[in-house]
Amino acid sequence: MMKKKIIVANWKMNHDFYETTSFLRNILKIVFEKKIEHNKKIIIAPSYPFLHISNQIVQGTFINIASQNVCCMEHGAYTGEVSAIMLKSIGIRSVIVGHSERKKYFFEKESIFLKKIKVSIKHNIYVIFCVGETLDDRKKNKHFSVIKNQLYETVFNCTEKEISYLCIAYEPIWAIGTGKNATNEQIQIMHKFIRSLFFKKYGSYVANNIYILYGGSINHTNVKRILYEKDVDGGLIGNSSLKLDNFLKIINS
Ligand code: PGA
Repeated sequence: MMKKKIIVANWKMNHDFYETTSFLRNILKIVFEKKIEHNKKIIIAPSYPFLHISNQIVQGTFINIASQNVCCMEHGAYTGEVSAIMLKSIGIRSVIVGHSERKKYFFEKESIFLKKIKVSIKHNIYVIFCVGETLDDRKKNKHFSVIKNQLYETVFNCTEKEISYLCIAYEPIWAIGTGKNATNEQIQIMHKFIRSLFFKKYGSYVANNIYILYGGSINHTNVKRILYEKDVDGGLIGNSSLKLDNFLKIINS
C-alpha cells in the first residue's frame, strides 16, 4: 500500500495569536468550501503559547498540531521549559526535535536530542527528528558519514518499538531558508541511504515503514517533483508554509 505523504509546516517564531488562529480557521473554511483535494497528512507547528487553542480549532479535522520543541527533562526546576507531559496534557501528539536552528542558536547537541526523543516517546508523542549536513560537509564529501553519525548518536539508540514513534526529516542545512533546495537526485540518494541504515539496524519492516521527509526551501513550485521521489515520504516546510495561499497550493499539489 502506498504511504500517505506527510506535510509538516514549521512556522518557527512567526505568527502571533491572531495570525495563528485566523490562518487555521481560514484554511479549514477554504478547504471545506472549495472542496480542495488533499490526500496528505497535514501537521502544523505553531509556537508554544498557541498550541492549545490551535489544537482546539483543528479538533476532528484533517490538520494535526505539533510542537516545535520539548524539554529533555521530564519535570522540575527548569525555568522557561515545556515538558512532554505538559504537551500531552493539551492533546499534542507530535514534536519536532533536532532542528539545525536549535543547534545553531541554542547549542543543542545530539545527546540532548536523544533525551528529547526518549522523553517524548515515553509519553506517546511522535517525534519528527531532523538530520542534515552543512555545505562544507557536502563539499568535502562527508555528507553520508555526517548523517550516519547523527543517526547513530540519536535515534539508533531507540528500540524497535520506540522507532515506530519516529519520523526522520532530512534537511541539508545549506538548503534551509536559502531558496536553494537540494536537487531531486541529491534528495533521493540521501533518503535511500538513510533507509538503508534503518534496514541494517532494524530490518526491512522498519526500513520500509519509517517516514523520511525532506526539508529545505520547498515551495509550491517544487513540492510536487520532490515528493515524487521514491524514498521521499513528505516534506518539512518553513517559509512557504507561512502564507495561506502558498500553503494551500502545497497541500493541493
Ligand atoms: P524552509 O525551512 O522551508 O524555510 O527552508 C525548512 C525548515 O527549516 O524546516
